[in-house]
Amino acid sequence: MTTNTDLEELERTLLARVAAANDEAALEALRVEALGKQGSISALMKNLGAMSPDERKTFGAALNVLKDKVTEEIVTKKAAMAEAALDRQLQAEAVDVTLPPVRPRLGAIHPVSQVMEEMAAIFGEMGFAVEEGPDIETDFNNFTALNFPKNHPARELQDTFFLNARDEQGERKVLRTHTSPVQVRTMLRQKPPIRMICMGRTFRKDWDATHTPMFHQIEGLVIDETTSMADLKSVLTAALKAYFEVDDVKLRFRPHHFPFTEPSAEVDVGCDRSGGTLKIGTGDDWLEILGSGMVHPNVLKNCGIDPEKYQGYAFGMGIDRLAMLKYGMPDLRDLFANDTRWLKHYGFSPFLLPGLAQGVG
Ligand code: PHE
Repeated sequence: MTTNTDLEELERTLLARVAAANDEAALEALRVEALGKQGSISALMKNLGAMSPDERKTFGAALNVLKDKVTEEIVTKKAAMAEAALDRQLQAEAVDVTLPPVRPRLGAIHPVSQVMEEMAAIFGEMGFAVEEGPDIETDFNNFTALNFPKNHPARELQDTFFLNARDEQGERKVLRTHTSPVQVRTMLRQKPPIRMICMGRTFRKDWDATHTPMFHQIEGLVIDETTSMADLKSVLTAALKAYFEVDDVKLRFRPHHFPFTEPSAEVDVGCDRSGGTLKIGTGDDWLEILGSGMVHPNVLKNCGIDPEKYQGYAFGMGIDRLAMLKYGMPDLRDLFANDTRWLKHYGFSPFLLPGLAQGVG
């Protein structure tokens, strides 16, 4: 005959086993073993029929209490286990939302730097050396040597930034308004023949969708005993074909005036504007892209070169404009906004160095 003491014993054993069960499967096995149809508590229930009504009352009640207790312990433990499992899963799958969504790529080359590399490759192939000069220039290198008369309004026409400080001669330095002073420096330093390009920052007081106070120019200079506008045209045609990666470009020379060249010409490149996009190298339209001319004899003299023996040609273009035309950037100001999203879109891989063999773009 099962007694209340046996029930207490059974309760202790079952509760200890519930406490000891360390996964859901063990707990489920225990539930079946105690409360299932063939379970130990169910078996005791079956005995009730053979008891006297009084016995059945007390024993039955005790058995029900036991059954409820064990059931509740199992349910509680199951819930705790499920919660712990969920916690573990959440922990394992946790996402740090403050981390960048993708691993940032290794920088990007700015389109202006890219175009400079492209131009160095193109003109380098044609025997041009790349020369450099400072952003802050003397009045002589930026203007006087280039045949701008003293106090001539042309100096103001270039919207010059003058520095405040004056030197011993009372001259103020300037932020170079073009890269031409690098040509002056090269001529002062080197005997002809000269075949050079220079690229870099230039400065003028200007600000709209196609002008920024800091911009970039590329200029070329060739000085030799036999140079001509025809040479100029063929060099520019070859360079622009390579740069825009087209089979042919048409150039149109329009008379113009620069103090430092005579004759001077503005050069337009043939383009197509139909369909809302601009294509260089086809079509019957024209786009102004550079200034050029034969170096003025006064400039040669100012730089210690005999104009009776030598002559030369020079040309200058805006690098930013070249970049916008080739890579389809609509607003010049974006180039200098320091927006990394813009750079990510328009920038170039640091691993793809321009060269004529593998293509410059
Ligand atoms: N230095 C000129 C400018 O900035 C460009 C140029 C260079 C024109 C060489 C002719 C020859 O306007």
